Amino acid sequence: MISFRWAGLVLAVLGASSAVAAPAHTVTYDRYSLVIDGKPTYLWSGSFHYWRLPSPDLWLDVLQKMKAAGFNAVEIYFDWGYHSAKRGVYDFSGIRDVDRLLDMARDVGIYVIARPGPYINAETDAGGFPGWLVTTAGKPRSDSPEYTAAYREWMTQINRIIARHQVTDGRGSVLLYQVENELYDESDDTRRYMQDLEDKARADGITVPLTGNHNSNFVEGLGATDIPGQDSYPLDFDCTRPERWNGIYDFSAERRELTRTPLFFPEYQGGAFDVWGGPGYEACRTFTGPAFERVFYESIMAAGSTMQNFYMTYGGINWGWLSSPGVYTSYDYGAAITASRQLTPKYDQQKLIGYMTHAVAPLARTDAVGTSVPDNRRLQVTGRINPDDGTRFYFLRHAEAQDTTDDATHLKIALGDAGETTIPQQPGTAIHVDGRDAKVLLANYRFGKQSLAYSTSELMTQLRLGGRDVALFYGRHGEDGETVLRYPAKPKTRVIEGNVATHWDAATHSLRLDYRHDGLARVAIDQGDTSLLLLIGDNAAATRFWQLDTADGPVLVRGPYLVRNAVRSEDKVALTGDTDKASEVELFGFPDTRGFSWNNAPVHVVATPSASLLAHVEGPVPVSLPGLDKWRVNDGAPEIAPSFNDSGWLATTRTSSPNPYWNHQLPILDSDAYGFHHGNVWYRGHFRATGKEIGIRLSASTGVHLGNHGIFTAWLNGHFLGNNPGGAQQFAIDPSWLKKDGDNVISVLVDNHGHLQEEHNGAFREPRGLLSATFAGAATEIRWKIQGNVGGENLPDPVRGPFNAGGLYGERMGWQLPGFADGGWKTTTLPHGTDKPGVDWYRTTFRLDLPAGQDVPIALRIHDLAPHRYRAIVFINGWQIGRYISDVGPQTDFELPSGLLNLHGDNTIAIAAWSTAHDGGLGEVSLVMQGNYRTSLVPSPSPSR
Ligand code: GAL
Repeated sequence: MISFRWAGLVLAVLGASSAVAAPAHTVTYDRYSLVIDGKPTYLWSGSFHYWRLPSPDLWLDVLQKMKAAGFNAVEIYFDWGYHSAKRGVYDFSGIRDVDRLLDMARDVGIYVIARPGPYINAETDAGGFPGWLVTTAGKPRSDSPEYTAAYREWMTQINRIIARHQVTDGRGSVLLYQVENELYDESDDTRRYMQDLEDKARADGITVPLTGNHNSNFVEGLGATDIPGQDSYPLDFDCTRPERWNGIYDFSAERRELTRTPLFFPEYQGGAFDVWGGPGYEACRTFTGPAFERVFYESIMAAGSTMQNFYMTYGGINWGWLSSPGVYTSYDYGAAITASRQLTPKYDQQKLIGYMTHAVAPLARTDAVGTSVPDNRRLQVTGRINPDDGTRFYFLRHAEAQDTTDDATHLKIALGDAGETTIPQQPGTAIHVDGRDAKVLLANYRFGKQSLAYSTSELMTQLRLGGRDVALFYGRHGEDGETVLRYPAKPKTRVIEGNVATHWDAATHSLRLDYRHDGLARVAIDQGDTSLLLLIGDNAAATRFWQLDTADGPVLVRGPYLVRNAVRSEDKVALTGDTDKASEVELFGFPDTRGFSWNNAPVHVVATPSASLLAHVEGPVPVSLPGLDKWRVNDGAPEIAPSFNDSGWLATTRTSSPNPYWNHQLPILDSDAYGFHHGNVWYRGHFRATGKEIGIRLSASTGVHLGNHGIFTAWLNGHFLGNNPGGAQQFAIDPSWLKKDGDNVISVLVDNHGHLQEEHNGAFREPRGLLSATFAGAATEIRWKIQGNVGGENLPDPVRGPFNAGGLYGERMGWQLPGFADGGWKTTTLPHGTDKPGVDWYRTTFRLDLPAGQDVPIALRIHDLAPHRYRAIVFINGWQIGRYISDVGPQTDFELPSGLLNLHGDNTIAIAAWSTAHDGGLGEVSLVMQGNYRTSLVPSPSPSR
């Protein structure tokens, strides 16, 4: 075992004052699992990106929802570019306050796997590299001096924060620290780079184990991490055919080869990202739905993994210009929790397995063990055994994961003294695998004061409440099940609810319960001083249970949509949570519990025959959202007019660039070279016409080769030349458009769909914006001016930050902001068509007065009866929360995170609609309610300026 307790030791040696009040913990590991304070611990973790949810209070919501589902860890990427708009400038305030995030994680009681990069990928702009890095020299992700100087800046900043929150010194819940991300190159410079990141982490006070997400790289030698990890997306990312499954890769060989570390999956597929023009996230959620979770997640468990993280568990939104080319605003990911923070059947399924990984402690240490093949060869079973206590696990599924048939089998299992036993024993029944399904069955398992011989139901959880054990088993609705418990003498059994037959076999000291999974059955079993409440549900009934930790141990609650928290004080328990309708709340608490409150209000409870307390709580009151009927509209592209004054714009005067993509043509036009890294950019080119110009060839880079949908549009002296998706095109010039004397102006608006993710070749430096412009017919010189977001890297609005603003006229004038006076604009209604290419801005306000104590996720919907050629950028109260492309899709609904909304007052919507051809405008815009919950969550507004 390798111990990580350095911080504590160092403090002791230095005699540091006791700033560290909480006890330090040890985090070690062996080839089976992580070992925390000496206890083998199964890691069941989900990915969440705080930067994809610009409302810190909602971070708490996501973390609580994860914890409630049985995740004991959250894996978090820290996005360098999100915190650094300019070299040397770092912002960790407001929506960027990661200290607050890590405090929340500690308070929620969930471990953190910190992944600070510096490179993260994640379908975000430049894979997390800041915009300013684009124009620097040096090979990225190597030990080049220029790159090293840059990333050390970031590591110093972020390590300092992470170091304050480590489990190892008792001050937080950071458990693991990932070094870099998916680096599949073990050349010398990369190894030195990895080693430097590791040395720096240690020097900066990181004392938890260092992990990797590099598959089989950096396992040994220079740059090796403590716990290397596998990243695996077995279904890939194409959600267009959600029924398509790939086969299952068996990781047991990898597990066998690991002699000092557990089999760790820092990223196992939790969903899939979707692309512009894709099928939408509900297709991804079906694709990677509960059946996928059961079959694939249990397959890596069957291979012996005890460290599983799912990417993503809450995906969030690519608000502003956060996305890399190819992906659109939503990063919902088809995950267990939707981008609007709602729980899905995938969440329920993860809860079923997640609870088991903690309840069944022996699962953290298992070896593969041979087992008889099922009598139905369409099925396969994998056996594992805990070497210390003999608990056995049988992982059952179709041999061909794609099979959809309903197959029944018997299994021969090893049953202690009884030897090999065929189960189920009940005549006429069998174990089913109906379609794409998988099961983890337990045998020889002791919990509390109970001894389980086996069950053909799956165990969700077990807990000890005072003098009795409570166990919750489940199975598919309508399938038969049997559970066998051993007692020294015949126990007293009482079926409280449901249809359960009991058989006592004195010869084997076994009590067998036979039943069909249907709703919830309850059986009380007492023998000597042991007492068990056995709960047997179908899947739907089981997922209505919540297990919560109190200072005195866990309690179980049945009923509502969500239970967030349980606090015990004397003979009462204070429960908090959410309801989506009027609900039962049933508490299985400590024997001396006399009552409970729900969301701080006492409730009337009755005692039940299950020795639980039952109450009824209210659902949310109905809510209706205002219509958006009155709009104002204004021309938002004065740059098209030749007379527009661009004297304040930057001239494109740069004559050299370290950017390897620069083709040594002058002038250098790309927008990054002038500090405009995100959003739309305007160019105006001035020239004196000779009269011979018959065409102009414009070339721009928007990232088009990735199936991205960037575009540029161009005008000559106010006449529309056309559009192009980002590439090169010659536009014909009508000679009558040229002015013989004086200034002629070409105006070009370029859509920047973000910087590419980085492999190891500098791809993130691929330029954005206009690249070159030459006339056909004449060699006329053009002098260019450029204007992107106001201030470039010097943000006038650091609160909303580097990804919020682009270079549209309205953005530069503050038309997106709530305070802007649009009284002079024309009134209009939507939909509104235009045949004039250009940019129009639309604004409206609406008033909310949502009931206190309710969580109402709201989205803004844009609806076009038929696709038009325009793209819109949507702002709520000054925050850019959506990019819509009418003729590409698929996204039409844009989440309005509640922290950005005034829930009790006025809100401003501003939409910039860029018509890229003669059939533009803006479709119908409405507010849609995605859900309505009565909740204990109290969101406060995100900071704005
Ligand atoms: C992983 C990568 C993540 C993300 C994911 C796909 O391999 O580490 O950052 O890009 O692929 O969503």
